[in-house]
Order: sequence, then C-alpha cells, then structure tokens
Amino acid sequence: MIKQAIIPLAGLGTRLLPLTSVFAKELLPINGKPGIEYILEECIDAGIKEIIFIISKKKMMIKKYFYSDTFYKNIIKKKKDPKVIEEYKKIQKYKKMIKFVYQNKPKGTGDAVLKTKKFIKDKYFLMLLPDDLIMNHNCSKSMISAHLKHKSSVMASMKVKKKTVSRWGIYNLTKKVSKHNFIIKEVVEKPSIKSAPSNKAVIGRYILPKTIFNKLSNQKPGKGGEIHITDAIQSLINENESFIAHNFTGKYLDCGTMNGFIKSNIEISKL
Ligand code: G1P
Repeated sequence: MIKQAIIPLAGLGTRLLPLTSVFAKELLPINGKPGIEYILEECIDAGIKEIIFIISKKKMMIKKYFYSDTFYKNIIKKKKDPKVIEEYKKIQKYKKMIKFVYQNKPKGTGDAVLKTKKFIKDKYFLMLLPDDLIMNHNCSKSMISAHLKHKSSVMASMKVKKKTVSRWGIYNLTKKVSKHNFIIKEVVEKPSIKSAPSNKAVIGRYILPKTIFNKLSNQKPGKGGEIHITDAIQSLINENESFIAHNFTGKYLDCGTMNGFIKSNIEISKL
C-alpha cells in the first residue's frame, strides 16, 4: 500500500503575485478553506498516513498554521465556542500527520522531491502538487488502485488545448492497459507547440518509485534552469520502469494562476 505522500510547498508563487509577496498561496482560502486542506483531505481519504511538506524559510507561515496550539487554547479557555473547538481539532489531526522538510532555494520540483529522500520508507510514494485541485472524485485513490493493479508508477493525465502545451509536462502514450490507464512512452517538460508529442498533460498527482532519488541525485537542470521531476521520470522510463498515465474523472481546477484561482472559488462554491 501507499502510506506516505509528499507535497512541494516551497515555490515562490509568482503566478499569484502580488498576493504571494507576503502570503503563502496554499493558505489562500478557496470557498472559505485554505487550498492545502483540500489536498490533505484527498490524501487522508486515499489512505495516506504520513504527509511530508517541503517548505522554505519564506513559507514558515504554513508550519505556523498547523502549530497554532497556544492561539487556539487561549481562545477556547475564554470562550468554549464549538466552531473554534472543531477547527482546533481539525488542525491537530493534520499536525499529527505532517512532517516538515526544507528547500530554501527554489531549484525546481525535482530538487524538492530529493529533499524527502531519507524520510521515504516504502518502495512507492504519492506526490501532490498543491496548485492542482481535483474535485468530485478522489484522483489519488484511483491512482493507487491503478498502481496496485499494474504494479507501475502512475501520473495523472488530462487533455489540454494544443496552444497551452508549453505550460505542462506532455505525454506520448502507447497502449491502453485498462479503463482510464495508458502506458507512457515519453514525457517532456513544457515543450513548444511544434515539438509536443500530444496534447495530453501531466496534472499534479504522481505515484513515484523510490528509485527516482538515484536519478534526481545526478540530474542536471533542465527547462528554465530548474531540476524537473519530469526529466527524472523520463530517465526511469528509458531504463524500462513502467509508468502509467491515469485519465482521471474528477473536475480539475488550476489554483496556481490568478484567473484559475478566482474560477476555482466560483466552481467549488457551486459543488
Ligand atoms: C509542474 C510540472 C508539469 C506539470 C504541472 C501540472 O509544472 O513540472 O510537468 O504538467 O506541474 O500542474 P509547474 O506547475 O510547476 O510549472
């Protein structure tokens, strides 16, 4: 089973400026609740027992959010407001599951993953990118099922508009192995429209093998000078590690851009 999840949270969030100059984007409320809590709920519902947050000194606000015991206790002592007690219990539950590691230089998602190396216990682990919310259906849960069925690594997949391919990791798929699941032949980080192998994009849910750490330790920076998880995945595919693209059925919301963030609020309020 997959018991551990990692969540890279050290990104600068430039696509959400000016808010992110002082605020951690993952704590911004989406329909009244911080975005990160939707991600935590998805993990818990998928059977995850431990979650590793990769933060930076600039994102200490995230740790404070989960370590605000004194704040809550003082309020509860004065006034036994059931709503406050409920919120406190929820934060406590999350806190017990979360470990923090640090990535103080924003060198890319691959570098963030590498920071968790010594904490990963099992052969496979889950990674969720907090900009990507998937509603109505637990994508992590169906990916875990696909992983168990095919004994493979898995990544979430969605068709995107051809003109937007340079914003995503893009797949070249071979055969279908079961409903919603396809073998990945190739994955390219943010290709140009001309060189993109398809319009099927990587969405931020990954079941990765522990062997990815060997690849990441030796990996040279790629697109934009960053260390990309996509490039390490391609190295593993080249060595015949099996990776599956899972066409998820839930509703995708992109919370990492201002337009997407505004839309996500509206969409979730309608659910
Ligand atoms: C990251 C990945 C990219 C993937 C995307 C999904 O990009 O590098 O392959 O398609 O997440 O949201 P980023 O959003 O960090 O630019």
